[in-house]
Amino acid sequence: MADRAGRQVSFEAAAGERILHAGLLAGAGLPFECASGTCGACKAQRVAGEVVDLWPEAPGRKVLRAEDEILMCQTTCVGDVALALRGSLASPPDPVIRRQRGTMRRTDILTPDIALFEVDLDTPIDYQPGQFALVGIEGIPGLRAYSMTRHEPGAPRLNFLVRRVPDGGFSSTLFARAVPARTVEIVGPLGKAVFRPEEMRPFLAIAGGSGIAGMLGILDRTRSVGHCSLYPSELVFGLRDSASAYLLDVLEEAVEATDGGLQITVAFSHGEAEPDLVRRHPALRFNTGFVHEIGLARAIALRDCKPVHFLAGPPLMVDAAMRGLVVEAKISPTEIRYDRFG
Ligand code: FES
Repeated sequence: MADRAGRQVSFEAAAGERILHAGLLAGAGLPFECASGTCGACKAQRVAGEVVDLWPEAPGRKVLRAEDEILMCQTTCVGDVALALRGSLASPPDPVIRRQRGTMRRTDILTPDIALFEVDLDTPIDYQPGQFALVGIEGIPGLRAYSMTRHEPGAPRLNFLVRRVPDGGFSSTLFARAVPARTVEIVGPLGKAVFRPEEMRPFLAIAGGSGIAGMLGILDRTRSVGHCSLYPSELVFGLRDSASAYLLDVLEEAVEATDGGLQITVAFSHGEAEPDLVRRHPALRFNTGFVHEIGLARAIALRDCKPVHFLAGPPLMVDAAMRGLVVEAKISPTEIRYDRFG
């Protein structure tokens, strides 16, 4: 594979293995965001050789313009293949990406469509707060991307928040009434939207729906180093309405632990917060509107503090938030970190 500057990298893929996963596991700095077919960031051009498209309906294919373009995360090869990148190869992934098996079990059902899961690993993996991993279940094709909700890199386990997808065989399996512990394949860690305490900067995080998962991992880390007491930071969490709210107790606890250093606003897109919810969560702020709009207002208000911006959520929400931050708040894209998947 060659990039536009002529830099080359080569690696082997097992039969049926996705090109992106094989490359990342081999330490190649391939372009990607979701690693699971939704964003289009892993686009490449097939120059020679035969490939097989494993998901012709992948949403990320909307970025493909020519017959010979592929999504590396949804394509496997038959024999030797040569690919070309429009962009540049990056540095090798750090921390190193690994594949291993684990046992996944549900730990808490938060709503009929949202649950927490824990995966016991054979060995701990090194990862940064805000990163995600790909999870595959035996017998169900494909891997799904889920962010780690905690930051415990020395522990032989990972914690995830999973949203049930209508007609999704994968999530339906996990949400089945008497779900047994499942053997799963884990590929990770992945993702660039990471929090680094050594940067010693405040942050503004804007998360929609299950995008809160990676932010929980970041909050976990900020708490362990007392970051928000030194660098006051904010999170805007977007949900549909009071009836579908979840994790507010956890967020309330996170605010209380910082003694005012962390501010969390819950934004409901469909209606105002119910009075009882407001009364039960005095440490949280509530607002009505789309999360990207409320997040934008906070970004403009906080501009002089020069925070790092984290975005997480459905691709449409992340794109809208990104546009607002860059165009209206005049924030440099280099100050915004996100991984679009969902
Ligand atoms: Fe392949 Fe997102 S990385 S579609």
